[in-house]
Amino acid sequence: MRGIFYFSATGNSLYVAQRLRNTLGGDIRYIPTYTGDGSEFEEIIIVSPIYSFGLPVHVYDLIPKLTKSVPVWVVLNYGGMSGGADAFTYRLCKEQGLDIRGIYLVKMPENYTLVFSVPEFYKNATLKSAPKAIDKIAAQIAAGEGCIPKRKKTKEAQYLQNRPTWHLIVKDFTVSGDCIRCGKCVGICPTENISIVDGKVQFADKCVLCLGCYHRCPQKAIRYKEKIKSDRYLNPNVREADIGKDL
Ligand SMILES: Cc1cc2nc3c(=O)[nH]c(=O)nc-3n(C[C@H](O)[C@H](O)[C@H](O)COP(=O)(O)O)c2cc1C
Ligand code: SF4
Ligand code: SF4
Repeated sequence: MRGIFYFSATGNSLYVAQRLRNTLGGDIRYIPTYTGDGSEFEEIIIVSPIYSFGLPVHVYDLIPKLTKSVPVWVVLNYGGMSGGADAFTYRLCKEQGLDIRGIYLVKMPENYTLVFSVPEFYKNATLKSAPKAIDKIAAQIAAGEGCIPKRKKTKEAQYLQNRPTWHLIVKDFTVSGDCIRCGKCVGICPTENISIVDGKVQFADKCVLCLGCYHRCPQKAIRYKEKIKSDRYLNPNVREADIGKDL
């Protein structure tokens, strides 16, 4: 059995994981709630967004915990600039002694849109081109075709510098009067970083900058630096309720 491990805040990685599963078969596991070492599977595929030219905290932390005796493939998705995250991830897996067979890249709509917006036509074009790219990756994995990133340069230094500041982002989040205290943000946060105290949404200091709360609040009440920005992103081809589930 194949295990497809994913981390996702706005559905892109879940979409990639589900499409891979449709072709290759397997069980889907949500990384933040997974506690094993992957040894119950014969093969592992990790599906992850690229964060700051590197990996989200949960994905980075999973890699050293995985069994070394099972082949691993990684499928990274990103909004526009991969910054050598494929080469960085390959090296990380090697250093941890994993049986890493390949790292693949697929472009998906950008969700780091706190200060800019992605034009609708561009988002739609990206969504349109993704299935073909994912199916090609599935075929390569099915054929056992390894894919080793050739590039030498990565932006790893920038990633390692940025990552320790991610938890600070919530200092710039405010919650507008549109909040209806539905508790959705509390439930979807992968680090239990949000609570409602005395009727007010509060953030602690464990944020991993996934932006799930920002994009998925039904009221668009969570704002960055008080900016009144109406665009939020959620992959239209997944069921939102499935984000965060094992499937
Ligand atoms: C904190 C953060 C950092 C990001 N950094 C990058 C980046 O360095 N390069 C890039 O192309 N996209 C970057 N993105 C965009 C995501 O990789 C991309 O939109 C991804 O498909 C989101 O996956 P998800 O919907 O499964 O959460 C970043 C997103 C976030 C939230
Ligand atoms: S999801 Fe939005 S509306 Fe619901 S409690 Fe959180 S901030 Fe308020
Ligand atoms: S506070 Fe929001 S952005 Fe930070 S980890 Fe939780 S859901 Fe993600």
